[in-house]
Amino acid sequence: MERSISRFAFGTMAFLSVAIALHAMRFDAVPMNLWLGVDEGIRHVVERVPFQALTHMLVAPFALLFGPFQFMPRLRARYPRIHRVSGRIYVAACIVAGLGALFTAPYASGGRVPGIGFAILAVLWIGTTTWAWRAAVARNFALHRTLMRYSYAMTFGAVTLRLQIPFFFMAGFHSYSEASVWLAYTSWIPNVLIVALYDAWNRPRKPALVAAE
Ligand code: HEM
Repeated sequence: MERSISRFAFGTMAFLSVAIALHAMRFDAVPMNLWLGVDEGIRHVVERVPFQALTHMLVAPFALLFGPFQFMPRLRARYPRIHRVSGRIYVAACIVAGLGALFTAPYASGGRVPGIGFAILAVLWIGTTTWAWRAAVARNFALHRTLMRYSYAMTFGAVTLRLQIPFFFMAGFHSYSEASVWLAYTSWIPNVLIVALYDAWNRPRKPALVAAE
């Protein structure tokens, strides 16, 4: 039962990640001046700072695409080379897209408050992912797994952000930019807290002390 619930949760996470990544790839047409379904506020951001914004928007979807499959134990055990190669792509995508995000954040369409939220996220994203990669290189796989869970919780913020948008519209917000004052925080803080709870719950318990006779 527990196994089928976690399989369902993983399947849903992987499906949403791939779907949002493919949807985000509409930005590949922006350099050809095709703005397929791009929000007005976001268009202004890209027009103001095209280099950093497009570096972020064109590279970040690869982190979402490659991330989920890294968590499949069977794939890791059977094809360790694939795990290593796609892991490097994931790490490179997080670092490059994270730097793009960090330098786009001051121009965020919603202003300074979302800009600060996105900048904090970018720094944590780059820092955690780099640390997780270094832990793998140092063969500290327990630390590597823990840190990658946090890294992906932040990557998955791109999904939770987009899932939350309709609720903000229902609550009376009129545009993405207006809602981004909240979204820049609500999209990723709960994900990180869920991973922290998961880790606390799965931490090996200290063996009970055997009472001396
Ligand atoms: C986890 C760290 C991330 C940070 C700090 C970040 C930051 C940002 C910022 C500052 C913007 C401009 C938003 C605005 O003006 O309000 C943006 C937009 C965007 N980001 Fe990210 N982002 C992150 C992850 C991702 C991921 C994983 C994807 C993959 C799909 C992604 C795809 C996009 C796209 C496509 C846009 C354009 C707006 C849209 O279509 O929704 N971002 N991001």
